[in-house]
Amino acid sequence: MYKIILKQKLAPKIHLLKIKEPILAKKSQPGQFVVLKIDEEGERIPLNIADWDENEGSIDVVFFEKGATTLKLALLNEGDSIVSLAGPLGLPTQIEKFGHVVCIAAGVAAGFIIPIAKAMKQKGNKVTSLIWQKNKKMVFWENRLAGASDRLIIATEDGSYGQKGPAPMILKKMLENGDTIDRINVMGPGPMLKACSDITSPYGIKTIVSLHSIMIDGIGMCGSCRVSVGGKTKFACVDGPDFDGHQVDWKLFSARNNIYKNEEKIAVEQHFS
Ligand SMILES: Cc1cc2nc3c(=O)[nH]c(=O)nc-3n(C[C@H](O)[C@H](O)[C@H](O)COP(=O)(O)OP(=O)(O)OC[C@H]3O[C@@H](n4cnc5c(N)ncnc54)[C@H](O)[C@@H]3O)c2cc1C
Ligand code: FES
Repeated sequence: MYKIILKQKLAPKIHLLKIKEPILAKKSQPGQFVVLKIDEEGERIPLNIADWDENEGSIDVVFFEKGATTLKLALLNEGDSIVSLAGPLGLPTQIEKFGHVVCIAAGVAAGFIIPIAKAMKQKGNKVTSLIWQKNKKMVFWENRLAGASDRLIIATEDGSYGQKGPAPMILKKMLENGDTIDRINVMGPGPMLKACSDITSPYGIKTIVSLHSIMIDGIGMCGSCRVSVGGKTKFACVDGPDFDGHQVDWKLFSARNNIYKNEEKIAVEQHFS
């Protein structure tokens, strides 16, 4: 059993859980994830490792209440335990001295892009973090993000805080204004990953996207997370989740991620109505 030692609401429907797990706390690297199961009957879901503390022997996950399992997870409290926590899984994000690195995240991903921004900065890069939220209420961990970056740009969909407009539009403006960018890491919904990749493609800027394809075992055995990158079949859980956004077959990615829409709706109705 894995004990929750801290729970915090960060924004509407977004929560932080700090879970005791000394081995994970020692081994985790930026960009990696865990697969957890709340109880014996529950499904396995992947969540990025948002932070880790070797001294305390704990890891942080930050999640958005999306469907049945994340709604159930949000009902847990400090002192509760989950039955299974596997990781760290996936290849760590490539951290090197690139020059100017732009870390782009939308929604809940603002929480788990921080280790990447931090590590890029520690490597000597100039780091700009571009965070896109629906509105002011959804903005969280602004200080943490600022601390992990040389420059922080917050944007909201409705303009209620920071700049108005979607992150890809702001990225486009940065490039049109002559900003020199050497590397981009993007985390968030598929359409945003694709939009950012489309914008940077003519500029030839390497754009690394973290693909959240549907995962079950997280260790390359079930085939559920299959994606096509550069015409080759890859498994996001073991070959990724980071891939070159200019090489991803976005049509296939989107089709496979929407496979279980009906079942997901039914699961919420069964558990919460
Ligand atoms: C490597 C990776 C890391 C992730 N990290 C985070 C994170 O840190 N925080 C966070 O809020 N979310 C994260 N996600 C997404 C998270 O796993 C899904 O939101 C969650 O599984 C939804 O389950 P549900 O039962 O609540 O919703 P459902 O109603 O079952 O599904 C809602 C949507 O979530 C996605 N989803 C559902 N099941 C899975 C699954 N097994 N694997 C991947 N996606 C799924 C699909 O797009 C689906 O349409 C990550 C996904 C991946 C692949
Ligand atoms: S989750 Fe099963 S192969 Fe990747």
